[in-house]
Amino acid sequence: MTQYLESDCANFKAEDIEYASRIIINNGIVIFPTETVYGIGANALSDSACQKIFKAKGRPPDNPLIVHVSSVQEVEKYAHTSSIANFGALSKLWPGPLTIILPSTELISNVARAGLDTVAIRMPDCNLALELIRKSGVPIAAPSANISTKPSITDSEHLRRNFDGKVDVIFNGGRTKFGIESTVIYPQGDTCVIMRPGIYTEEYCKVIFKHVIFSEDQAENPKSPGTKYRHYSPEKNLYVPETQQEFLRICRKNPKEFTPICSYETGQLLKNVNAIILGNRENPYEIASNLYESLIKFDQQPGDQGIIEPFCGNGIYLSIMNRIKKAAISVKDGEL
Ligand code: TXA
Ligand code: MG
Repeated sequence: MTQYLESDCANFKAEDIEYASRIIINNGIVIFPTETVYGIGANALSDSACQKIFKAKGRPPDNPLIVHVSSVQEVEKYAHTSSIANFGALSKLWPGPLTIILPSTELISNVARAGLDTVAIRMPDCNLALELIRKSGVPIAAPSANISTKPSITDSEHLRRNFDGKVDVIFNGGRTKFGIESTVIYPQGDTCVIMRPGIYTEEYCKVIFKHVIFSEDQAENPKSPGTKYRHYSPEKNLYVPETQQEFLRICRKNPKEFTPICSYETGQLLKNVNAIILGNRENPYEIASNLYESLIKFDQQPGDQGIIEPFCGNGIYLSIMNRIKKAAISVKDGEL
């Protein structure tokens, strides 16, 4: 049976943390909030505990998990840090939405690492999560708490529907702060490669690294295995055109055929009452925080298919487009 606990990142009860930490120590599974998305967590030192995460999510076993720690110092216990020239500067970004891939020690479960000799580590910026890790006394392996291939969950109201009876504890912590996942980086001395763009942009990475480069998703042998899989996709077909103009053209041509998902400003141009609004076009944090929520809403509304507005730009816009491109089917100009 799943136990539901009413605590969130800022306001949490000591007895809830105590209860959930005992579950972690006994190799059970706990869904908890972070500042990005909900995580489905287990003891990162235990193969059998980590196996339960893969089962509950339906996650391919070759896609490794992110290990969450509660301090910068802990990293040295679980990973080798010499691949970061300026390791000391990490405390300027942590706790925060940055995940670092490092050579692992043997302590971290081989199941969590999917057999790789590296481990992805991050310190989340959510006091509930940090307290849970501290109280458990072990690092917590936690991928995003969604069924594999589906949108990540950023509001606890969707957790019961997806995970009731499949996990031991669910924290009902409301909405998460950022709404898209951490930035995953691969450090090599004074250079870092962004494997998955996220909430921390290139500028943040420059606090630690002299050079920042982006990895293209690689079809074969990718360094970040998760990038080769289908991700974040709603049940219904969702299309993404190349430009805002093309988005408007398609919506106007077929007003009844597609549910539009777009910024407030683009929605104003459409005057379509069924449009799902992501937020203000000038505020990428707002768009990011509503993105997965909007994909879930789209699945729950009537209508067979949808179309989502593309965003251009750097920084968070780039991370938003990374998620949209994985969630939706790309269409060329004139194709719809
Ligand atoms: O914000 C986040 O990062 C959230 C919260 C819960 O912390 N977690 C999350 O986990 O997004 P997940 O499993 O959905 O995404 C982890 C990504 C995947 O693309 C995975 O392949 C990659 O990190 N990854 C994990 N371990 C890795 C490793 N050792 N080497 C390369 N990539 C790794
Ligand atoms: Mg995920």
